[in-house]
Amino acid sequence: MPTNARADHDPPAPEPVEVLLGLGSNLGDRDAAIAAALDALGRVPGVEVVEVSPLLESEPVGGPPQSKYRNGAARLRTTLVPHALLAVLKATERAAGRVPGPRNGPRPLDLDILTFGGRTLDTRDLVVPHPRLHERSFVVEPLRALGVDVDAIPRIARPRVVDTPAAVQEASLAWRRGGCSIGFVPTMGALHEGHASLIRRARAECDRVVVSIFVNPLQFAAHEDLDKYPRPLSADLELCERNGVDLAFVPPVEAMYPAGFASRIAVGAEAEAMEGAARPGHFIGVATVVARLWSIVLPDRSYYGRKDAQQVAVLRRLQQDLCLSGELVECPIDREADGLARSSRNVYLSPEDRTAARAVPRALSAAVRAHRNGVHGRDELLGLARAELDAEASCTGVDYLEIRTDLELAPWPGDRPVDSSARILVAARFGDPATRLLDNASFRDEPPVVG
Ligand code: PAJ
Repeated sequence: MPTNARADHDPPAPEPVEVLLGLGSNLGDRDAAIAAALDALGRVPGVEVVEVSPLLESEPVGGPPQSKYRNGAARLRTTLVPHALLAVLKATERAAGRVPGPRNGPRPLDLDILTFGGRTLDTRDLVVPHPRLHERSFVVEPLRALGVDVDAIPRIARPRVVDTPAAVQEASLAWRRGGCSIGFVPTMGALHEGHASLIRRARAECDRVVVSIFVNPLQFAAHEDLDKYPRPLSADLELCERNGVDLAFVPPVEAMYPAGFASRIAVGAEAEAMEGAARPGHFIGVATVVARLWSIVLPDRSYYGRKDAQQVAVLRRLQQDLCLSGELVECPIDREADGLARSSRNVYLSPEDRTAARAVPRALSAAVRAHRNGVHGRDELLGLARAELDAEASCTGVDYLEIRTDLELAPWPGDRPVDSSARILVAARFGDPATRLLDNASFRDEPPVVG
């Protein structure tokens, strides 16, 4: 076989791509560390250092107190694929003495891929164009010194807002391929700090966070507040942005329930009493929408608030029965300063009813405190809680006030002493027209603090 025959079958040599690199150092001989790194990079096969900006002095951003940085930028040409170049940069940082440390902590060398040709990449360890590039003058100035039109570099919008299941599925699959774990927080919008506490938890535990904002008609009965349910979308998206949400799914009703949509998820015993009794069909609507959202997002972790304890019990059963992906994470109840559990419906309360509504956490608190003082009779504890609600004239009805087992929410027998595995749950109405408030507390936890 002639020696050049193989060459006909070799893939063509990869075309070099232009890469912009951010350079930084704030430990040791900073300029020498950056110069040595560029020198080392230039000797890596497939990497050419084309141009380097002057270095500037900058204040540290975030992280622990630390000394000033030297920063610059470099233009490279490379035939390496992005993750191969990233591996070379990490090895170069390690060779300069960089060791794992706190986020934004001091370091002898920092090499960031800012752009990689015209490509966009969103993987666990590499996002290009660099998401914070445009906000940082210590990146922008050196790039301008290299003649780069920084405004022409695309910004990755966070959160990205999409309105079709297909767009969510595409993003979720791409993240999964890039090694990212996905946290999911389903909501009906009108977001408040309670929702934000779920989002922050997802942010801390997952690489990417998806929030859905959808007022689900299926879970509202005909006489309920579907039409007047608050829909402050731009404030919701700002809260998402502040809390680091990557994707907001805001579907119109037709995208969640297209023509012909007919399936309904029947739910088990968890859905029968309390909210299920007060709102027939409610949990069928919740389970149906959550099953659909869950299948669209395929999260590693989904986050739900214990404020809606029965909803969590229903959804835990749903997840087990349908083998829905990942882990269901139950988050603590977030309360206003005066003890009232945060809820999107609290805005319906008049100032007087809002004050009176503190009777709800007060009722729970009275029962939990009495339990700590040795009262273990179910009906006695319920009586103490009930007295707090009855004392408020604007409490126009108590839909239920019950003590149940903590997770499954099975009825607590009247002859069994209440122990720390029990939970007290309440739904009460305040004002006219009535606003329904839900709350609950475990006999294991500290009682809610009421101001
Ligand atoms: P929504 O009422 O918007 O609540 C979204 C999530 O936020 C739920 O898991 C709820 O329990 C949680 N949450 C609300 N207030 C909270 C608080 N004060 N502390 C902690 N968590 C709180 O629940 C729904 O929407 C819908 O039923 C939904 C699951 C999205 C299905 O349509």
